Amino acid sequence: MINGERRIERPLRWAMVGGGRTSQVGYKHRTGALRDNTAFQLVAGAFDMDFARGRDFGVNIGVAAERCYPDYKSLFAEEAKRPDGVEAVTIATPNGTHYEITKAALNAGLHVICEKPLFFKVEEAEEIKALAEEKGRILGVTYGFSGQSMLLQMRAMVAAGAIGDVTIVNLQYTHGYGCDPTGDKTNESQKWRVDPAVAGPSFVLGDLSTHTYYMSNLILPDMRIKELLCDRQSFVGTRAPLEDNAHVMMHYENGAVGTMWVSAVNAGCMTGQRIRIVGTKASLEWWDAYPTELRHEVQGQPGQILYRGTDYLDGIAKDDERLGALHVEGLSESWANIYLKFAIAMDAKNRGDEELLKDLVYPSIDGGLEGVRWIANCVKSAEQGSVWVKYE
Ligand code: NAI
Repeated sequence: MINGERRIERPLRWAMVGGGRTSQVGYKHRTGALRDNTAFQLVAGAFDMDFARGRDFGVNIGVAAERCYPDYKSLFAEEAKRPDGVEAVTIATPNGTHYEITKAALNAGLHVICEKPLFFKVEEAEEIKALAEEKGRILGVTYGFSGQSMLLQMRAMVAAGAIGDVTIVNLQYTHGYGCDPTGDKTNESQKWRVDPAVAGPSFVLGDLSTHTYYMSNLILPDMRIKELLCDRQSFVGTRAPLEDNAHVMMHYENGAVGTMWVSAVNAGCMTGQRIRIVGTKASLEWWDAYPTELRHEVQGQPGQILYRGTDYLDGIAKDDERLGALHVEGLSESWANIYLKFAIAMDAKNRGDEELLKDLVYPSIDGGLEGVRWIANCVKSAEQGSVWVKYE
């Protein structure tokens, strides 16, 4: 159970690049990082492309004016001169900037938390992974839904054989906000998402499905995709070559099969993230509409619902429990859980505690790299005419 008591000696001095007043995701980061007041302290930032707006915003959320910087380069350079300079930085800017800012942050000796999709190319992710290792720094990736404790319960139940051998993996992350194309021209957060120069080689595959794909790997750590087929299209034609809808079929090395439906044009859909894992004896299903519940359906028996915060759950799920049973936990707690693990990982790295790091389950550079690999394979299949491609 998490009750806010400190897990590391002292909170880490933390900065943000991006995540300013108009950003979609910035507050989620602060909600997560600052939840317990014992993991991170926000002391600096280059919050916005517009310096004046970014500084005004920074001051309004409690950052000293002189530590609100015009850009990431001056942030890293000036903070390095201070005895109390930042130790960790979050990068919450549009996709096309992640690689250069992450590289600069690692070279400045900082631990990094970066948004997904991490980078455009697998080679970039491999290069940055090597750089993080060389510098002895942590790189966490904010798969923000993945801190929900019922996903860890699924992981534990699959490992314990509760559903038998996994045969079918059914994944979905869809919404309908892309049905109206007006925002592609008028909304700052939407414009870059449909521009390949900034978004990268995909729209919804990177924006949405990387989350659900990471979560499936969290639940099924031993399963690897052998080959996949991706059919992607843009129902709003101006988004081409990027997709606003895609279906992916997967063949796993162990003989299991899977599907992912990802879409920004699932009209009217407000709760469209689902994960169903089917085994030879039973199935598990998690749905973001009821994040504190887990359906366990055993063939031939009445279905069961497991609830978060209860004694019968596995220890790994109980460890990340915050509010107790009867109360609804959700996305805020999920972000707080992953940020707490980022802090624990960074502190362990600082102390050279590799044993702790080996067993810590959190979205690390490996999960970020796998997300980039997933997109690359999906795009490769789609571009070859939606054919099966070997997963590499
Ligand atoms: P946005 O367009 O809404 O906001 C971007 C923010 O970054 C703005 O404050 C902008 O002024 C600032 N910015 C842009 N370039 C900058 C630079 N070079 N230096 C400093 N600040 C800069 O974008 P949004 O939706 O917040 O997405 C940002 C990133 O977060 C993307 O990579 C996106 O994929 C990811 N994201 C992740 C989510 C999650 O659940 N993990 C949810 C939403 C977005």
